[in-house]
Amino acid sequence: MASTRRPATVRKSPAKRAFRREIHWHVICEVVPMTPEQIDLVQRTWRAVLPVGDTAAELFYGKLFSLDPGIRRLFKNDMVEQGRNLTAMISVAVGMLSKPERILLAMRQLGERHAGYGVEQRHYELVGTALIWTLEKCLGEAFTPEVKAAWWATYAFLAGTMQEAACASSS
Ligand code: HEM
Repeated sequence: MASTRRPATVRKSPAKRAFRREIHWHVICEVVPMTPEQIDLVQRTWRAVLPVGDTAAELFYGKLFSLDPGIRRLFKNDMVEQGRNLTAMISVAVGMLSKPERILLAMRQLGERHAGYGVEQRHYELVGTALIWTLEKCLGEAFTPEVKAAWWATYAFLAGTMQEAACASSS
């Protein structure tokens, strides 16, 4: 009689693994309103990173391209300039965290432009991972679990807004 028992180990197909990653990212992206303490943590730690902004950007892109070398080809312009664009945008957004409605339109437009640069939904998680890794490198011991959670909340808000706008403009 044929056994109906499942094998002891079930190998997950690449599609299933991708699906699980997607779920994980959606959990992170559940945009939980940030507390005033979290906003303060993000604003204070960002002020500490800004003086080494160029180095932070270099670390960030190095990490990003190591996570997915294929992303490199999306960047056509000078990477130092690009790093400055990124840190300037983060500065504006971080400064507005207590009034997020003031940054929504700019973030939505940024998300739409990113779709035009060839940025895909799956890239957002990689950029988040590279950003958190960079902040940890720059801040050292000051990068406490609370600071990390506050930065993930910030990134989830920014990336979630951009992704939503990119999806809306493509449908
Ligand atoms: C919170 C998330 C992000 C922020 C704040 C951000 C910020 C920016 C800014 C300010 C620019 C300059 C051009 C413009 O204003 O349109 C830019 C360009 C760009 N970003 Fe982002 N970005 C984010 C996420 C991402 C992600 C997930 C990717 C995926 C790899 C990405 C890839 C690019 C590319 C390819 C360009 C164009 C570079 C070029 O033309 O050489 N960005 N980004």
